[in-house]
Amino acid sequence: MDIVIIGTGNVATILGRKMLLAGHRILQVFGRHPGRTAGLAERLGADPVHAVGDLSARADLILLALSDSSYASVAGSMPHTRSLVVHTAGAVSLQVLKGCGDRYGVLYPLQSLSCELDEIPDFPLLIDGNGEESLQILQSLAAGLSKIVVRADDDTRLRYHLGGVLVNNFTNHLYALTAAWCEKEGIAFSLLQPLITETAVRLARVLPAAVQTGPAIRHDAVSLEKHRRLLEGSPGLSALYEALTKSIQQFHHKK
Ligand SMILES: NC(=O)c1ccc[n+]([C@@H]2O[C@H](COP(=O)([O-])OP(=O)(O)OC[C@H]3O[C@@H](n4cnc5c(N)ncnc54)[C@H](OP(=O)(O)O)[C@@H]3O)[C@@H](O)[C@H]2O)c1
Repeated sequence: MDIVIIGTGNVATILGRKMLLAGHRILQVFGRHPGRTAGLAERLGADPVHAVGDLSARADLILLALSDSSYASVAGSMPHTRSLVVHTAGAVSLQVLKGCGDRYGVLYPLQSLSCELDEIPDFPLLIDGNGEESLQILQSLAAGLSKIVVRADDDTRLRYHLGGVLVNNFTNHLYALTAAWCEKEGIAFSLLQPLITETAVRLARVLPAAVQTGPAIRHDAVSLEKHRRLLEGSPGLSALYEALTKSIQQFHHKK
């Protein structure tokens, strides 16, 4: 496929590299920032462009990988096109692209992606399209990029997006708070790494509820009290400790 990429951030970079590896041609990279646009275009063997009027009419696919709030304005500024136009957002409706042309869709990577990744991880691709033709093109493109391709409408994609925020963004924030707390207390966060990895790996085989351990599920009052005293100087972590302890006890009481 001949592809134009709009955006120069994390997803534009990773999907662009994946598409190139899968044998597609990236014709152009469109961006606002001259340095970032030229850098990604060079990496993908594409031409950098900065005006929507210069977008190639030869593209089979135009991929928009933008901040969620900018899809409507960027899509609205694009000339009507015969290319299939897709966005990559979990929480943005497919319909934001309806003015772009006859065929539009979504190619949403269910993974945390960052420009700096050396090795591109595997990730499910959730696809949607405005009709069977758009869906079939996207199904065939996505199958060349990922082993897991799932059709998901706006509502379903939003639910997966929220699931991703809960299991990834929130746990990572807990890691960040814990790392800062470890530093303050003079202990090594790195010693907790095997614990993080072991639980994450186990979850491929068993349900999370089955691997819950710790003082909250055991109602171990003495240990809980010791922890509370240690967190007295950390109000943010202390509030989370209380909320999560209560949640674990209520969840496992109900079962
Ligand atoms: N990163 C992830 O893990 C991930 C995973 C799945 C899906 N997504 C979705 O993929 C999309 C892109 O995410 P990302 O992480 O790649 O974001 P990002 O790294 O912040 O990149 C956003 C891009 O949008 C451009 N942009 C923002 N506002 C613009 C405007 N008004 N006009 C033109 N360009 C504009 C930015 O340009 P400048 O550099 O000039 O600001 C930048 O190139 C989002 O919809 C996100 O929800 C992200």
